[in-house]
Amino acid sequence: MILKLLLFAGLAAAETGRDAWLRYARLTGHIPSALPSSIVALNSSTSSPVHTAGQELQKGFSGILGKQVAVSSTGKQASSAVVGTVAQFQKAFGSSAPNVSAELIEDGFWLSVKGSTVQIVGQNERGALYGAFEYLSMLAQGNFTNVEFATNPAAPIRWINSWDNMDGSITRGFGGASVFFADGLVLSNLTRAAEYARLLSSIRINAAVVNDVNADFHTVNSTNIQGVGRIADVFRPYGVQLALSLDFATPMELGGLSTYDPLDDGVIAFWGNITEQIYDRIPDFAGYLVKADSEGTPGPLVYNRTLAQGANLFARPLVPHGGIVMYRAFVYNQLPNESDWQADRANAAVNLFAPLDGQFDDNVVVQIKYGPIDFQVREPASPLFANLPQTNVALELQVCQEYLGQQTHLVYLPPLWRTVLDFDLRVQNETSLVRDVITGERFNRRLGGSAAVVNVGANETWLGSHLAMSNLYAYGRLAWDWSLDSEAVLQDWTRLTFGTEPTVVSTISTMSMASWPAYENYSGNLGEQTLNDILYTHFGPNPQTLDNTVWGQWTRADHTSIGMDRTVSNGTGFSGQYPAEVAAMFESVETTPDNLLLWFHHVNYTQKLKSGDTVIQHFYDAHYEGAQTAAEFVGMWEGLEGKVDEQRFDEVLYRQTFQAGHAILWRDAIVNFYHNASGIADEKGRVGTHPWRIEAESMELDGYVPYVVSPFEVASGATAIVTATNTTTGTASTTLGFPSGTYDVAVNYFDMFGGNSSYSLSLSGRTVGTWVGNAVDTGKLGHTPSIYIDGHSATRITFKGVSVRKGDVLKIVGRADGVEPAPLDYVSVLPAGVVD
Ligand SMILES: *[C@@H]1O[C@H](CO)[C@@H](O)[C@H](O)[C@H]1NC(C)=O
Ligand SMILES: *[C@@H]1O[C@H](CO)[C@@H](O)[C@H](O)[C@H]1NC(C)=O
Ligand SMILES: *[C@@H]1O[C@H](CO)[C@@H](O)[C@H](O)[C@H]1NC(C)=O
Ligand SMILES: *[C@@H]1O[C@H](CO)[C@@H](O)[C@H](O)[C@H]1NC(C)=O
Ligand SMILES: *[C@@H]1O[C@H](CO)[C@@H](O)[C@H](O)[C@H]1NC(C)=O
Ligand SMILES: *[C@@H]1O[C@H](CO)[C@@H](O)[C@H](O)[C@H]1NC(C)=O
Ligand SMILES: *[C@@H]1O[C@H](CO)[C@@H](O)[C@H](O)[C@H]1NC(C)=O
Ligand SMILES: *[C@@H]1O[C@H](CO)[C@@H](O)[C@H](O)[C@H]1NC(C)=O
Ligand SMILES: *[C@@H]1O[C@H](CO)[C@@H](O)[C@H](O)[C@H]1NC(C)=O
Ligand SMILES: *[C@@H]1O[C@H](CO)[C@@H](O)[C@H](O)[C@H]1NC(C)=O
Ligand SMILES: *[C@@H]1O[C@H](CO)[C@@H](O)[C@H](O)[C@H]1NC(C)=O
Ligand SMILES: *[C@@H]1O[C@H](CO)[C@@H](O)[C@H](O)[C@H]1NC(C)=O
Repeated sequence: MILKLLLFAGLAAAETGRDAWLRYARLTGHIPSALPSSIVALNSSTSSPVHTAGQELQKGFSGILGKQVAVSSTGKQASSAVVGTVAQFQKAFGSSAPNVSAELIEDGFWLSVKGSTVQIVGQNERGALYGAFEYLSMLAQGNFTNVEFATNPAAPIRWINSWDNMDGSITRGFGGASVFFADGLVLSNLTRAAEYARLLSSIRINAAVVNDVNADFHTVNSTNIQGVGRIADVFRPYGVQLALSLDFATPMELGGLSTYDPLDDGVIAFWGNITEQIYDRIPDFAGYLVKADSEGTPGPLVYNRTLAQGANLFARPLVPHGGIVMYRAFVYNQLPNESDWQADRANAAVNLFAPLDGQFDDNVVVQIKYGPIDFQVREPASPLFANLPQTNVALELQVCQEYLGQQTHLVYLPPLWRTVLDFDLRVQNETSLVRDVITGERFNRRLGGSAAVVNVGANETWLGSHLAMSNLYAYGRLAWDWSLDSEAVLQDWTRLTFGTEPTVVSTISTMSMASWPAYENYSGNLGEQTLNDILYTHFGPNPQTLDNTVWGQWTRADHTSIGMDRTVSNGTGFSGQYPAEVAAMFESVETTPDNLLLWFHHVNYTQKLKSGDTVIQHFYDAHYEGAQTAAEFVGMWEGLEGKVDEQRFDEVLYRQTFQAGHAILWRDAIVNFYHNASGIADEKGRVGTHPWRIEAESMELDGYVPYVVSPFEVASGATAIVTATNTTTGTASTTLGFPSGTYDVAVNYFDMFGGNSSYSLSLSGRTVGTWVGNAVDTGKLGHTPSIYIDGHSATRITFKGVSVRKGDVLKIVGRADGVEPAPLDYVSVLPAGVVD
């Protein structure tokens, strides 16, 4: 016991995750003696990022090295850590200042570490702060090497889009309430907003939109302009600029005008007035984000005006202040009809925007989601990137895992992002990587970059999940340099977040790098989209919701075939939106990569892939493989016990255990669905075969009744059991015929929103465990909850190493609570190594 204590003395018992990758945890091991003995921050104004840099350096030296170092605004360069702008260095040190201005562009910095002398020179104050964070990141990772380098951003736009609503909720928020708003107003306590800005500046994010794209017009009334002004005040010391989403109809709703026509003089004057009010309060306001004519939002098309006229309306009053408009390309206001083989929502962006190329003002940036539909597990790069050579463009990513497990599944996203960023569009048959289009390099555009939807909330973990924070960190790092290696970035994050112990770094690295491929394996394969329920929570499986709707995310699955025919020759024509070489590749089944086959082609389930498997057998194999990988994450994480502080260890283990169970649900739902559709058996005999599973409905029931689940594929045998009323108790029992031995006993049940049923499990009177289905009601799992018995509420609890005797009577007693009738699906009695 004493040995154990000594060994892990360096580990705090509990870390909440609130400091994320800026923990400044004490380094153990050899620390060089040549370290700066003072800190000089060349601006003492408290709202200055250079001042902030001085404070961070002090905090970092204290935390990482246990060294107390004083900060001043004047001093010598030798044996100091000096931070400031090129101009401030020049002013303070004259000819002995580093002469580096020629190497820097806006927001760039130069860092020189030579033993105890450290110089951090920003092109501007924000750049100087970035340089201080870079130096601290080196120290926190135990990197004391001498370095001297300049670094500059790939692009000027490195934004965050928040989807926070004025009432304090967050659209697709899985980590608690807004850190900006409550009850229609800006929070009075902006401590967490300031902490968030600190995290953002450390990854070189330079602006954040704070309100949802489905904007509330009240955001720009006089009270709230003052309120968001206070957010800008807490952002400013971190060099993060504030931006706002706008509601196109505000002139009517707030201004009392009879129109919001972008060419109307009254409307133009209205927006001029709002813009002036904002700049009066927020002189460094970054600009607007506009979602118009999309999913029911108002926009210029209502008045038969073009999207360019709509964008320019906002752009013009911003010009004198240097502000910009981010205009979303996610526009589709005509809902397609599936009976039309040629209809395709994916065509909308190019159809609407390409004809307007050249008509957008210089301070407008068209913000394009990575794929043509909506943040699916795999999509081809949006062809719009190839179609706007005379328009500024930016890439829209999601750190928020809306369709990708909602932060209860580990899915490290950069490998997905890279499939788009590194894609060569071959514009005019020349190399045209998406990443070079968005930085402005390919078409010589001055403005460009990226925005990521980030759903941080008031939870101490920010995202609800510790491991999901790697996506936020990596987004910032990549937005600065799109050529960085996804795994190297992840490892930096891991060292900063969990410490430098090699096993911790390698385990988290292995799990994270395997996570997106695993998620794709157990959700939608071959470019078929994620197969989430698109009509409800976007969380669990429900493939039939994609078809027979106006949302245009069709799979066109029937009894023999599946996939969207997006060819020019016989389909929707979408493949023709790419430049010639790419269009030719996607036009033919033979040259389309397997992983996008069903995106571009409608084929039989028996179609052979390049891998040699058929489409249907690929579905089966991928799903078993994906669920297996998710199960292995649990054991990998358990191997870190004692190497990660207890609180974060337990919280991550809880989520990985959930993911492993939900991955089995996904696997079974999807394979059963397509087995049912195609009637084609799994060559390996797994689908529908569950030798270790006991269906709840086949047990002896007392106070429980069978319940037919919809959609059928999310319950084993399509049936669950529920208590006879939602105020009573039920019992399900069965005699086990398995050989005596040690098993893991798993119970699949449903955790609905609006009730916390309680359960107990026993074997011949010996209690195995008790639990309460309260993870969604208490926010322990922050995914969008469901009030139904379905693929979102389906969950599993596992009791490990249970001694089971042949002939034991397994009994579950469930007590209903609220709307939740203690629903049970099945019990698995699993020998070691079996995932089912
Ligand atoms: C110091 O910071 C303040 C606030 O950011 C800024 O207004 C001022 O120009 C800075 N001073 C110098 C010398 O750069
Ligand atoms: C700074 O460096 C540039 C070359 O990058 C050189 O032209 C200039 O003379 C230098 N200025 C001083 C003051 O040394
Ligand atoms: C230390 O940091 C520098 C600057 O980021 C980097 O170039 C170098 O590879 C790092 N060294 C090690 C051992 O990580
Ligand atoms: C602005 O809107 C908020 C609701 O979001 C409301 O509470 C406040 O009173 C409004 N202010 C004015 C001046 O109308
Ligand atoms: C403001 O919020 C922070 C973070 O939640 C909290 O620690 C602090 O006590 C709050 N301050 C006030 C005055 O409520
Ligand atoms: C905006 O319009 C209001 C009402 O017409 C007026 O009182 C105010 O001065 C205007 N503000 C600016 C900055 O133009
Ligand atoms: C827009 O054009 C359509 C048809 O071209 C017409 O029916 C409609 O009335 C027009 N709307 C407005 C607001 O002008
Ligand atoms: C061509 O399109 C029709 C629908 O118009 C479809 O039924 C048919 O399967 C397609 N043919 C091929 C070869 O994909
Ligand atoms: C580009 O390549 C396509 C397909 O290989 C070819 O048809 C076309 O003529 C080429 N265009 C140019 C501008 O070279
Ligand atoms: C697809 O299956 C249908 C029905 O079984 C069959 O008629 C058709 O020939 C098949 N198509 C191909 C390309 O194999
Ligand atoms: C915050 O997140 C943790 C970890 O996921 C969870 O246990 C906790 O219940 C959450 N709390 C709230 C209030 O959302
Ligand atoms: C039982 O469930 C129904 C709806 O399913 C609900 O209306 C009722 O309030 C629930 N009873 C209790 C005690 O919560």
